Amino acid sequence: MPTPELSSERIDALRAATPGLQTTTHFNHAGASLPSRGTLEAINAHLWREATLGPIEAGVAAREVTEHARSLAARMLHADPAEIAITTGNSAGWGAAFAALGTWQAGDRILTGRHEWGGNLANMLLVAERYGVSVEVIPCDAEGRVDPAALDAMLDARVRLIALTWIPSNGGVINPAAAIGAVARRHDIPYFVDAAQALGQYPIDVAAVGCDVLTAPCRKALRAPRGTGLLYIRRAFMPRLNLAYVDARSAPVRSETQPDGAVALRAVVRDDAACFETSEVSAALHCGLANALEEALAIGIDAIRATIDAKARAVRERLVALPGVTILDLGSERAGLVSFDVAGQDLPALQRTLAARGISISVNGLGYTPWDMTARGLSHIARVSVSYLTSEEEIETLLQAMREAIA
Ligand SMILES: Cc1ncc(COP(=O)(O)O)c(C=O)c1O
Repeated sequence: MPTPELSSERIDALRAATPGLQTTTHFNHAGASLPSRGTLEAINAHLWREATLGPIEAGVAAREVTEHARSLAARMLHADPAEIAITTGNSAGWGAAFAALGTWQAGDRILTGRHEWGGNLANMLLVAERYGVSVEVIPCDAEGRVDPAALDAMLDARVRLIALTWIPSNGGVINPAAAIGAVARRHDIPYFVDAAQALGQYPIDVAAVGCDVLTAPCRKALRAPRGTGLLYIRRAFMPRLNLAYVDARSAPVRSETQPDGAVALRAVVRDDAACFETSEVSAALHCGLANALEEALAIGIDAIRATIDAKARAVRERLVALPGVTILDLGSERAGLVSFDVAGQDLPALQRTLAARGISISVNGLGYTPWDMTARGLSHIARVSVSYLTSEEEIETLLQAMREAIA
């Protein structure tokens, strides 16, 4: 039986605990969502501890919070805590894992979905340019989702990486991450999943997805503070990575006495995913992250998913009833990102008009999803992204402002 949506009483209570909803009409949850009061207080409390005890001294106690956040993140992803690194955002984790794949040879192949995030793609295109690697797009099925059968047909011994953006930043399509993972696993090819838009709004089970690496920032649907992110590395995949750089935490230097009595120094790399962390972190943000994870787990990701899905469907239906609006979301199963165009409208200007009325939406150009935008002949999309917090009044405020802006 499908999980029911959150009740309106529950949503009202969660809204009351979100200060930002009093001051802004937020439809950019896919950019970064609004934190709860509890998350803000957790951050503030730690900043005060730093100010009053001394930052290093306060940090000693905060290490437990970091470990707590790691366990909660592991629970959310159905992973082991040793497989989780806490990072500062998606690109920090994705880039570090990609760099740890080691040296590239001319003729190596990377296969990636058409909706790949521009930053991930930039890393791939750089190795293509530097080493003669080819970066190839996996064809989509009729719904516009990355096609696992097409991927299977492309494989040969030169494929060194399959990279998928699960839910792209320019629309609601949900790619078949697990079906792609089944192909990757069958051929034992490293498989990276960018779950930036999935974390906090869509159930994630890394074993079911079959990924070696999964990354996400935590500021989006999860509502954790900016500057936090997760990097999952499958345990059995860890030995296949070579860190591009280390520090005193990820590879502490030890002295070892040799058989001849001489002392040698050795950098010993940690054997868990925390080897991707640096010693200097914002403990305050980790406190906020732990709180946001606790809250999301308490609400339940399935209920969040059902609620966001219902709200996004409602927004799509009502937007498309406005003159000149075309919904640009691909796929039939969709996330809380609603992308659209308005005939005859300059989308960045529309965004500015709405912003002047206190309504935040996003307008994406080519840079975030270069291949998908190019393949579909799009220069911009307007994006309204909802949260489980989104209210009927907010939707009506948006629609009324849109009606006036495009009249
Ligand atoms: C799908 C996707 N991947 C990656 C990112 C980049 O995340 P970060 O800015 O944390 O590196 C975003 C940001 O919007 C995104 O939507």
